[in-house]
Amino acid sequence: MRILVIGNGAREHALAYSLSRDPQVTEVHVSPGNAGMSAIATLHPQADAVALAREIAADLVVVGPEIPLVDGVADQLREAGFAVFGPSAKAAQIEGSKKFAKDTMARAGVKTARAEQVAVGTSEEEIDATLDRFGPHYVVKDDGLAGGKGVVVTDDVVEAREHIRAVHAGGNPVLLESFLDGPEVSLFCLVDGETVVPLLPAQDHKRVGDNDSGPNTGGMGAYTPLPWLPEDGVQRIVDEVVVPVAAQMVEDGVPFNGLLYAGLAWGQDGPSVVEFNCRFGDPETQAVLELLETPLGGVLNAVATGTLDQLPELEWKDGYALTVVLAAEGYPEAPVAGVPLTGADPGSEARGVRAAGVRAAEDGVSEGAGAASGTGEGAAAGLVSAGGRVVNVVATGKTLEDARAAAYAELKNITLPGGHFRTDIALPAVKGEIRIDA
Ligand code: GLY
Repeated sequence: MRILVIGNGAREHALAYSLSRDPQVTEVHVSPGNAGMSAIATLHPQADAVALAREIAADLVVVGPEIPLVDGVADQLREAGFAVFGPSAKAAQIEGSKKFAKDTMARAGVKTARAEQVAVGTSEEEIDATLDRFGPHYVVKDDGLAGGKGVVVTDDVVEAREHIRAVHAGGNPVLLESFLDGPEVSLFCLVDGETVVPLLPAQDHKRVGDNDSGPNTGGMGAYTPLPWLPEDGVQRIVDEVVVPVAAQMVEDGVPFNGLLYAGLAWGQDGPSVVEFNCRFGDPETQAVLELLETPLGGVLNAVATGTLDQLPELEWKDGYALTVVLAAEGYPEAPVAGVPLTGADPGSEARGVRAAGVRAAEDGVSEGAGAASGTGEGAAAGLVSAGGRVVNVVATGKTLEDARAAAYAELKNITLPGGHFRTDIALPAVKGEIRIDA
């Protein structure tokens, strides 16, 4: 199988690496990719996806990020005759339009936060009246695609109002939501119409600093599985959340095909949906794929070809996996680019390195633009930062504590002047501080 992965982050690096280890996969191509993954995949600069899929005669195209999905790249590829892992633009609205997601959940009878949209141009009086209907905890979301970074959760009404103004200034509406209490769970499910196959549950750490301090980010680390989740936790999420939503989307004529990511809070009554995403999460994917024994190419191909119901049960390694993100100085507000990164050169995958915001030192490409084209052999080492989340380290262990120790030990071999990372990924779970009341 020749596989094309679209995207350029650590999630795509993890997908490409797992695919490269599947005996059925003969070639892995990534567009645009990043210089850190050049040893395991052929990289292509930003290109028309259909033209590239034709050029390499792709047997399967895997779309990583939400923006091309919402923009319809999966539809274009399917119309051109390619097998695609990723939903249609209409189905991707489950992430792209919070109104679509809320309406779908309401019809499916799925528990989620109460929400009201605050449109651009809403008067100060109306904004204050809407804030009065929420609180004392304010959840203020950018109602556009913000990659997890557009959310402010605060008890301070002034901060809530300021975030509304900032999002409006950027041209997007705001969604005010009721606060959902309880630890968060990310459950990724392979979905092919009404067929739902869950992966292992994970937890992301979204705030930039230890003890959940500072602003939200795209995610600073994650671990899987969740030792504190009730034994029937995954089954409850599948039965109470994902199956009803998948069935509703089929009934509504917008069947989902790809990875449906349920972001949930586990409260006193069990799971409630915080949000849905239409793609693999980042950084949770880096940890989840580390424990998947079943070769990934066949799994994604089964979804893409509508045969998920025939896929044998997934096999998982015992133990835990954990990933830590090393971010650039200034992330998330103003990440510093062009800083030398050592210890994470291409070919470091077996040490757990998954590269994100990097470029080859000698490339003149602009920040976040990914890598120049090239193949693994002879690809230049010497990386510099080119984005906020620069590199991930993922490690496994028999216990969560072992996985934590292994990931942080490996991180010591990587240097990024001014870079920062959280030191407490999975620590509350290791200490037994996460409790479920249900
Ligand atoms: N882990 C958060 C996200 O992928 O949106």
